[in-house]
Amino acid sequence: MNNLDHLDKLRELDPQGMLAVEESFYQQLQQGVEIAGQSDLSKISGKKYSGVVFTGMGGSGISGDIITALAADSSQAPMVSVKGYRLPRFITKDWLVVASSYSGNTEETLSCVQQAMDMGATMLFITSGGRLEQLAQNYDSVSAITVPAGLQPRGAFGYLFMPAYLALAQLGLLAVKQSHIEEGLEIVKQLSSQYNRKVETGKNFAKQVAVNIGDRLPLVYGQEGYLAPIAYRWKCEINENAKTPCFWAQFPELNHNETVGWERLDKLTKDFALIILSRPEGHPRIRARVEATKKLIDNNLGKVIEIPVKGQSSFAQAISTLYTGDIASVYLALYHGVDPTPVEKIEKLKAELAKLD
Ligand code: F6R
Repeated sequence: MNNLDHLDKLRELDPQGMLAVEESFYQQLQQGVEIAGQSDLSKISGKKYSGVVFTGMGGSGISGDIITALAADSSQAPMVSVKGYRLPRFITKDWLVVASSYSGNTEETLSCVQQAMDMGATMLFITSGGRLEQLAQNYDSVSAITVPAGLQPRGAFGYLFMPAYLALAQLGLLAVKQSHIEEGLEIVKQLSSQYNRKVETGKNFAKQVAVNIGDRLPLVYGQEGYLAPIAYRWKCEINENAKTPCFWAQFPELNHNETVGWERLDKLTKDFALIILSRPEGHPRIRARVEATKKLIDNNLGKVIEIPVKGQSSFAQAISTLYTGDIASVYLALYHGVDPTPVEKIEKLKAELAKLD
């Protein structure tokens, strides 16, 4: 029996309860919907925006990447996601600036917020507190959505993502169908009972993904559109929860470069596990590319793990595929006896940089 089917062992290895956070992902998404419904957007509604710019890093920034990708099919407004210190020059005060930081203290995000305040832009903050919450009290054109504190930012995805996504819909900047939200939540609900720790590895796909990765180096292939940020989220979750190197790329772009890179170092790449997020009804040319690529690199590859994307709507497909990766990365940590919660290196880096102030 591996660690994953040993309930006492799972508790012992996960003292801060990251697995429980993942097991209650459905409830967190639901609470995110409720938080959105209760939020006061009066200070930022009724305006005409030229576009929306998201600013946020890591577990808080991923929402902007996913919303931007989902919006490409459903919104007329330009949307960009910024991961750094500076807003692009084309952002003017007529853009809505959405700043997402769970701690409220991330310096890159605060730097973008400062630029937005200097130009007098309208803003939406999503945070559990910190400096961002304080700034909201001293600046007129901002609505702040405060979410429950006490989690790791990456474990608060439902709190950070749903209010941002639904607020943009309320502001008329995104078309969001209630039936799509219901579909996504229903699939996540079903998956969370299938992925629960009590379901043994033989019947638990999320545990199987972890076991199949095992000691191999995982590489995640997404595809153009919203499965690109989902592949990136898989990579980040494997890095932060399982403390394992992981890389990602997306179809079709990877066929124009990365595919060639599989020609050498086969002794090394035989220890890679390639995870492919595959959409059965996706673009037919992408499906053909996935199959052709597998054949081309097969000899140099240790293992292929295909993740069939579930659901009809983009929202349901994105959210349920993200969920499988989130919980599989926690199982990968626990499979290797690693505590999934702490991210000491991120904290050390933040502390080092704080010394420079
Ligand atoms: C840690 C995590 C990190 C943080 C990032 C930004 O769990 O996910 O990627 O999200 O360091 O910090 P916040 O989210 O507080 O702005």
